Amino acid sequence: MKYGLLLLFALTLISCSKEQPALVFELQEEQYRPQIHFTPEANWMNDPNGMVYYEGEYHLFYQYYPDSTVWGPMHWGHAVSKDMVTWERLPIALYPDSLGDIFSGSAVIDWNNTTGFQDGEHPPMVAIFTQHLMEGERSGRIDFQTQGIAYSLDKGRTWTVYDGNPVIPNPGIKDFRDPKVIWHEESEKWVMVFAAGDRIKFYTSPNLIDWQFESDYGMEEGAHGGVWECPDIFKLRIEGEDREKWVLLVSINPGAPNGGSGTQYFVGDFDGKTFTNSQYPERTSWLDYGRDNYAGVTWSDIPEEDGRRLFIGWMSNWDYAQVVPTEEWRSAMTLPRSLHLKRNDQTGVYSVESRPVKELESLESDKIEMKYNAKVGKNNVYRFDQRNDKQFQLPYKLEVTFDLSESSSKYFGVRLDNPETGDVYELGFKDGRLFSDRTKSGNTDFEERFAKEIHYTQTRNISDDQKVELEVFFDHSSVEIFVNKGEFSMTELYFPKQGYMRGMIFSKEGEVTFNGLTTTSLKSIW
Ligand code: FRU
Repeated sequence: MKYGLLLLFALTLISCSKEQPALVFELQEEQYRPQIHFTPEANWMNDPNGMVYYEGEYHLFYQYYPDSTVWGPMHWGHAVSKDMVTWERLPIALYPDSLGDIFSGSAVIDWNNTTGFQDGEHPPMVAIFTQHLMEGERSGRIDFQTQGIAYSLDKGRTWTVYDGNPVIPNPGIKDFRDPKVIWHEESEKWVMVFAAGDRIKFYTSPNLIDWQFESDYGMEEGAHGGVWECPDIFKLRIEGEDREKWVLLVSINPGAPNGGSGTQYFVGDFDGKTFTNSQYPERTSWLDYGRDNYAGVTWSDIPEEDGRRLFIGWMSNWDYAQVVPTEEWRSAMTLPRSLHLKRNDQTGVYSVESRPVKELESLESDKIEMKYNAKVGKNNVYRFDQRNDKQFQLPYKLEVTFDLSESSSKYFGVRLDNPETGDVYELGFKDGRLFSDRTKSGNTDFEERFAKEIHYTQTRNISDDQKVELEVFFDHSSVEIFVNKGEFSMTELYFPKQGYMRGMIFSKEGEVTFNGLTTTSLKSIW
């Protein structure tokens, strides 16, 4: 309530005065408000949508319900950024209409004006999305999801909904959603990939309007603990080789390795019509092992000179997203990441790695590096929150390298805590598997599944004699862990009662040696 009034007052001030009111800043200061992640100013957000780059701007649209902090009739919220790090929030781009609410989807620049929508200097920016007809669902029909399009001729600022929607009507399939469109160079066609229950569907089109069904993929491959959602498909060059492979991302809910929502991927070949998996079909690969990275997709139309495959995900999980203890807003996006494809020389297995984008370096302020080797054991910890007379406050980035050839510990890592409230959050390695332990991290009882157990990677992923490099971003209510420059990652939320005051390196069994410990304060993006 308190924040409700504050919001009202702040919004009134914005509309009455041109000066930036100080109160808006206070809104960003809400206890759990992330300082280095995108959040809507108020109300409910889920999946990132329509991510497209045009004329120096990264567009981020997102599933948005402007009337409440829980999920409801979906709109596309909108923000733009010059660096994917700091954001300008823009007015809502797409509203529900007679064909339904605006569910997840993508956007592309129609450079060759294949749609014929161009009228003026800018090629059309075309959004492709699912429309979900709530009345249809309520009346027991199963054909209530269709694919539609809309376009903007002014850099995404205003939108016209195509009057021939739907461009793909529903053939009688209950889950029929989340189109991601790409331009397929080789066949000179648009390709749409979307999710239909237990599979992915591929359609093609010359003009984004007339679509033809091509193939289904995945009924017998990957994880099937829940419904498939929000796919994406793109080519990546194999690092260190001159070859490319296609990567297909598929979110699934529930059925993720640590429960609820998660994102799996497949590596293979795609001829513009059919996807073939090159990995062992029985193998399921996960983009992130944490509980809170879902429905992520990549930006369209990144200039060739840049060449990166840039990704952002929704930093929550349908198991508890609607009840997390934030006040005026719900949900943040993950940090922007670039995706990379590696091939293991020995096993031939491909893996997709995620790395935080270099643009995040612009947030760095005080940086303190420890150059010597240090050791902790059962009876001592190494405090890194207070060094050189500096007290670190969230958000900050921690980098540290553990040297396992010099260590006897099988259970070690990083702990944040607050001795006054008793809140403790830990991450690290136990018996060779990365873990994140938020079981005692603070406010956890809003949903039983939030902090029931420690979250692990599925299999052992480090050996006893290697060096393990951690890069960890701590924000007010989230942590993102990247191991060995993105070899694997974990994204997790936490809600400490009064913030974590201390940070330390610990070992619970035997001793662990570490070095290169660097702590970097990060400036707020707001
Ligand atoms: C994924 C999802 C999508 C759907 C959207 C609705 O989180 O369920 O499949 O389009 O959210 O908001």
